[in-house]
Amino acid sequence: MYIKRIKLENFRNYENLDVEFSKDFNLIYGNNAQGKTNILESIYISALGRSFQTNKDNELIKIGKEKANVEIDYVRKDREGKITLEIADKKTFYINGIKQKRLSDIIGKINIVLFYPDNINIIKGGPSERRKFLDIMISQLKPNYLHLLNRYLKTLEQRNAYLKQIKFDNKREDLLEIWDEKLSELSSEIYKYREEYIEKIREKIETIHNKITNCGKEQEKLEIFFISSGKTQKDFLEKLKETREIDIKRGFTSTGIHRDDFEIYINGKDVGIYGSQGQQRTSVLSLKLTELNIIYDEIGEEPILLLDDFMSELDENRRTNLTKVIDKNQVFITCTDKILVENKNNTIYHINNAKLIKD
Ligand SMILES: Nc1ncnc2c1ncn2[C@@H]1O[C@H](COP(=O)(O)OP(=O)(O)OP(=O)(O)O)[C@@H](O)[C@H]1O
Ligand SMILES: [Mg+2]
Repeated sequence: MYIKRIKLENFRNYENLDVEFSKDFNLIYGNNAQGKTNILESIYISALGRSFQTNKDNELIKIGKEKANVEIDYVRKDREGKITLEIADKKTFYINGIKQKRLSDIIGKINIVLFYPDNINIIKGGPSERRKFLDIMISQLKPNYLHLLNRYLKTLEQRNAYLKQIKFDNKREDLLEIWDEKLSELSSEIYKYREEYIEKIREKIETIHNKITNCGKEQEKLEIFFISSGKTQKDFLEKLKETREIDIKRGFTSTGIHRDDFEIYINGKDVGIYGSQGQQRTSVLSLKLTELNIIYDEIGEEPILLLDDFMSELDENRRTNLTKVIDKNQVFITCTDKILVENKNNTIYHINNAKLIKD
């Protein structure tokens, strides 16, 4: 699949942009603060319904303006389509002109994988960063997953509120069982998805990692381990019972899939703790390329790859190995210098103060 055209109106630093893109490698180069990342953001938000840079929608609107528009024409194997996004007091999405009621209805219309500098936090950051990675990947492929996750988070919020009522208003403790029952049921369903996708990552990541680290060194063995507090509904229910007393004291739920995590090991050591900078960066790249591969397997089409800050994120070796691994994907690359990716069909755009001109 590929994006044919992007139109932006009052989005970030763009007043008016209307550009057609190539279905191969699109290289967008220009000085800092010209609007490179903002273009990728407009693609990301059209694919996943939210930004990777902010949770505040009003930041997406050009300062001094009241509303922003993003329009993306895409082509898939069997159909073409248009995603339109209006951002004002709230976000409204349209697919081929038809207003979409739920955010989950737009996810998956175009499939993307973003690789950008902050991704290093998947390795170096806390468990929530890794859950986010997993959740975004699964949501793109399984709309039901996002529903489950939202229901879980809502139920969790209700349970937490009730825990506080037990502590401060002497509410009945046994009524917690209603929430426990619901939470543990949702937990076991979410667990199944996460376990399934960790397994898919496990099947592919070692080979991919070897391909991108292949520079004459001894081969690294990369492993991934999923960490969850249970598997079955019964497990989760028992855990909730075990921690009930402490949960009441704390006023929040200390066990459940909202605490899930995964670990990545290279040659038997946790790369988040013991890995070198280079190993950490390469591990993120391996994860991202594995994501790309899994999406392809599931939908039978190559997802779009967004690579922000290409030169500063990856050294020459990794860049070369990366482009060897990418085959038929449409790719958007941003960088500050004009570069060409070897053996690929490059289309180059120069960006200057929100104006994009084909070189
Ligand atoms: N809502 C907004 N209204 C107007 N300008 C904005 C808005 N949000 C961000 N900007 C500006 O957009 C400009 C371009 O940002 P962007 O992150 O796309 O730059 P970039 O080309 O990726 O730069 P770098 O090479 O430093 O990463 C910045 O100067 C930023 O201040
Ligand atoms: Mg940038």
